[in-house]
Amino acid sequence: MHLSPVLTELAQYPFARLDDWKAEAAASGIELIDFGMGDPREVTPAFIREALAASIEPISSYPRATGLPELRRAISGWVERRFGVTVDPETEVVPTLGSKEAIFSFAQVVLGEKRLVAVPEPAYPVYERGALFANGGVVTVPLDEEHGWLPDLDAFDAWDEIALFWVCYPNNPTGAVAPLSFYEELAGRAREHGFLLCSDEAYSELWFDEPPVSALQIEDRTNVVVFNTLSKRSSMTGYRSGFTCAPREICDALRRFRPTVGTAPQEFVQRASVAAWSDDRHVEDVRALYQRKRETVLPALEERGLRLAGSSATFYLWLEVSGSSEEFARRLLGHGIVVAPGSFFGPAGEGYVRLALVPTQAECERAAAILREVL
Ligand SMILES: Cc1ncc(COP(=O)(O)O)c(C=O)c1O
Repeated sequence: MHLSPVLTELAQYPFARLDDWKAEAAASGIELIDFGMGDPREVTPAFIREALAASIEPISSYPRATGLPELRRAISGWVERRFGVTVDPETEVVPTLGSKEAIFSFAQVVLGEKRLVAVPEPAYPVYERGALFANGGVVTVPLDEEHGWLPDLDAFDAWDEIALFWVCYPNNPTGAVAPLSFYEELAGRAREHGFLLCSDEAYSELWFDEPPVSALQIEDRTNVVVFNTLSKRSSMTGYRSGFTCAPREICDALRRFRPTVGTAPQEFVQRASVAAWSDDRHVEDVRALYQRKRETVLPALEERGLRLAGSSATFYLWLEVSGSSEEFARRLLGHGIVVAPGSFFGPAGEGYVRLALVPTQAECERAAAILREVL
């Protein structure tokens, strides 16, 4: 059987290995508390579910790639309230089916003569996979604690060869945030060297002290593309609803590309999304919930000598561990606690583990007691 060589050559999606380990542990009777994947187990607020149910029409039609005008307006209203920035809902916003598909397919839309994509490491694996399936090349940009998990822009030297430079703040997996000055500097280089700054802001609303800034706040957004989503902010991973915000020319290209792929969200999901983007109150509740879980689990880890090595935002705890991160994760799995080894996010993640604070509050309390006992 002949398959895509990109698919054949790709290593197994690391989290599929975690699933294998979990299945083994569960088969041997261990009860698991799963801090592995970043899939919130929280209820979607009732008003959003009701908006979805009320939007189901007797006749269903294909959704249009442009998205409903009221959804684009709700998104641009949120951007204005949250970041103080005006984006044109007609020309600069494209609703997407969650943000993952939009991130994955972006390279297919924009890679032209230049085919190299700069991808941070450790990172969410989709930036790299999207580049490879678009027959692009990848240049890895290491992130380390010394630089606050930001790319060292002075150490990077492929500015003229790259078409895209991916960043993600607040960051998965490290929880680090980026200052506006970082975005401004990178956007300046993007204009100078003719590449696009792609900013994945999936976690922009999960913060504890200060609301993180957005790349949308860069003064000159000529080369800036931002991806965001309701998944984490509104506990809506299963709805699949996000958006891309980009200069008009890029949005025009997306609107030409996307009908072929058929990735417009269902209209009832779009209507529920209007309700979600128009309300900020429930997001405060979501933040409070993660703060409480953080305050439950983190002290147990710190008491046992583990050090938080980033994590000023997001629902992730990124912790330094001694020795192999896979061994550490497997040891905790033996006690029913599932964590993701840092090595799953690339070699630069070795020496760290990531806990996604997605189990329920009661499970977090049980996990804290177990951690105090076994670490
Ligand atoms: C960094 C990052 N970006 C994007 C996504 C995609 O989220 P969604 O497709 O649910 O919007 C995720 C999901 O875990 C993520 O961690």
